[in-house]
Amino acid sequence: MEFSWLELRDFRSYPELRIEPNPGVNVFVGANGAGKTNLLEAAGYLASLRSFRGAPDEALINDVAGAAVVRGEVHHLESTSLIELELPRSGRRRVRVNGQRPARSTDLLGHVRAVMFLPDDLDIVKRGPAHRRDFLDAVAVQLWPGAYLDQQEYERALRQRNTLLRQSGWDVDQPTLAVWDQRLSQAAGKLMVRRAGAAGVLRESIAETYASLSGGGTRVELHYESKWGGSLQGVAADTVATVLAQALEANRRADTERRVTTMGPHRDEPWFTVDDRDARTRASQGEQRTLALSLRLASHRAISEATGEKALLLLDDVFSELDMERANALAHMLPAAQTFITTARQEEVPVHGRTFFVEPGRIR
Ligand SMILES: Nc1ncnc2c1ncn2[C@@H]1O[C@H](COP(=O)(O)OP(=O)(O)OP(=O)(O)O)[C@@H](O)[C@H]1O
Ligand SMILES: [Mg+2]
Repeated sequence: MEFSWLELRDFRSYPELRIEPNPGVNVFVGANGAGKTNLLEAAGYLASLRSFRGAPDEALINDVAGAAVVRGEVHHLESTSLIELELPRSGRRRVRVNGQRPARSTDLLGHVRAVMFLPDDLDIVKRGPAHRRDFLDAVAVQLWPGAYLDQQEYERALRQRNTLLRQSGWDVDQPTLAVWDQRLSQAAGKLMVRRAGAAGVLRESIAETYASLSGGGTRVELHYESKWGGSLQGVAADTVATVLAQALEANRRADTERRVTTMGPHRDEPWFTVDDRDARTRASQGEQRTLALSLRLASHRAISEATGEKALLLLDDVFSELDMERANALAHMLPAAQTFITTARQEEVPVHGRTFFVEPGRIR
């Protein structure tokens, strides 16, 4: 898929902006704070209905405006769609596809698919399991838009169960807790099957892209299993839900004591190994960096294969973070997809494309 044009109104630092990017590589050059990441964030929002910086929606609205708008025309292999998103300061976000309002704003998902490369991608490899959970969940949304609602449902159920535990502690009403256990485990089943599905789709591609980046000879693996249910490969959501419901019940004492839900997919620990050693604690710096890059390249490959069209690539300031060898390897392996690259120094980007100059509030 490709944007033929993209328009922003009152999105972050842009009062009014229209760009007409190339179908191939587009390089956005500008000083720190000029608005480069803001532009990628807008395009990324259309793909995932969230900011890849983790910013709340209200932060995306220009400080002096009442609503932010992002619109774009997207070319697919056999169709074109006009997509529009409005984020008001109060009230729900609104979307339109080809002028029509779909039943839910999440129906926008699937019209734009994107993979981003970010300077802190290394965190997915080096830091805590939350980064790896988020990575898998984000890929799941690009593969299966319905995963977005499953994730939201789980978060809501978890929040409510935790609120109940926090407020009641030992005095918790058991029947009420049982209702929340049921809802939580149902939602968890769906979430975990998506997460395991994403891991399954990525597993092979990660090994392959790592081999291409490093010249081969190293075995890289992605592991994801539940602490209480073992392997999740091919397991149905209902089965996961049943197992978790039992685990929650068995664990109620601990949960009421600690006043928080101590079991479930929010505590999952996906991990990577490089030649059978935990990548987080045992891999070298270079291996970790190569792995981080291969995660993104593998995501792009898997999403493009599953959906039959190339996802948009968003590279936010990544070349300046890489040594020359890896920067060149990445440039070499970038797939032929519409690509937005940002940089403060154009000479650091070893890829050619249409160049845009970013200045506060506008792009030339
Ligand atoms: N809601 C908002 N309203 C108005 N301006 C905003 C808003 N949010 C962010 N900005 C402005 O956007 C600027 C940051 O833009 P952005 O993060 O895109 O910069 P950048 O070009 O990526 O810089 P760097 O090279 O440092 O990463 C900030 O200086 C801030 O002033
Ligand atoms: Mg930036």
